[in-house]
Amino acid sequence: MKAVRFHEFGGPEVLRYEDVEQPTPGAGQVRVRVAASAFNAADDGMRAGFLPIPVVLPHVPGYDVSGTVDALGEGVSGTTDGGGLQVGDAVIGFLPMERDGGAAEYVIAPADALVPAPRNLPLPDAAALPSVALTAWQALFDLGDLTDGQRVLINGAGGVVGKYAIALAKRAGVHVVATASPRSSSAVRAAGADQVIDHTTTDVLGAVEEQVDVLVNLAPIDPEQFTALVALVRAGGKVVSTTAFMATPSDEARGVTAATVFVLPNRDRLTELVSLVDSGAVQVEVTRRIPLTDLPALHAEAAAGRIAGKVIVQPA
Ligand SMILES: NC(=O)c1ccc[n+]([C@@H]2O[C@H](COP(=O)([O-])OP(=O)(O)OC[C@H]3O[C@@H](n4cnc5c(N)ncnc54)[C@H](OP(=O)(O)O)[C@@H]3O)[C@@H](O)[C@H]2O)c1
Repeated sequence: MKAVRFHEFGGPEVLRYEDVEQPTPGAGQVRVRVAASAFNAADDGMRAGFLPIPVVLPHVPGYDVSGTVDALGEGVSGTTDGGGLQVGDAVIGFLPMERDGGAAEYVIAPADALVPAPRNLPLPDAAALPSVALTAWQALFDLGDLTDGQRVLINGAGGVVGKYAIALAKRAGVHVVATASPRSSSAVRAAGADQVIDHTTTDVLGAVEEQVDVLVNLAPIDPEQFTALVALVRAGGKVVSTTAFMATPSDEARGVTAATVFVLPNRDRLTELVSLVDSGAVQVEVTRRIPLTDLPALHAEAAAGRIAGKVIVQPA
């Protein structure tokens, strides 16, 4: 089969489109014929060797995947009762990041990493959902503990994680204050934000009229700017960040705590997210669809900081 792999850590040039033996599923695993994998910023960091993830070389990137179950390993039930899988099932998953991913024609997945794909979008596009939507969920509810009637400020809401976060927060009855530039403000409004602050023209500190219970930061702001935003959180509230490359600030004197997201797979949550997509409560947005042969060029764009939105990668 064809796959993109890197045999050493380094710049985008270490990626090779090459022939690889078709993998065989082991116990508890299935083989998936890949419809698409999604590109995430972490793929860039893993290839460069910057992230503390114990990748074994050579490595196939692309841990978010959609596709069709193609072969079952030992112990995988072969029936859909009790969450089993059958050959031909359309599935999505957030695969273990240290193992080979979906930038290939086939990928081996632990059966318990996969859930049925949403029914109302093209199967390749469904690869855009798993880790990004789980990031939003974990930020809002697992770390932020947000509940009905509370207020959240989402800084950097116009990006990929932000729009899932707005939709999930609104569905939970949370009042959403969002920052977005003119580039993304209409999409942020459409996702359901109650107030949108243009961070390119407005002082966010002055524009938030009532303190929030939780501040979620998704934007690459200066640490000093981030620390200043903590004043917008009520005493006893929380600051949650996905921007793990910088420390998340707190305010001990006022009991404002800090937490950083390191997204983890969660099959039950992903199943719930799929049902929210099917019901129309959550929208999956794909900005670009590229062939697998173009993945090295996409990594070069990412390394140069030029990727906006969600890109999916499809085998020929
Ligand atoms: N820790 C984890 O497990 C994990 C998992 C997934 C993602 N992440 C990280 O989480 C972050 C968000 O992910 P994403 O995919 O949503 O990224 P994204 O699509 O790049 O979105 C970031 C958003 O921040 C906005 N922004 C830029 N500068 C800003 C500023 N000064 N003030 C306010 N907003 C600003 C951007 O512009 P506009 O305002 O023009 O729209 C953009 O919409 C990224 O750093 C990503 O790497 C971490």
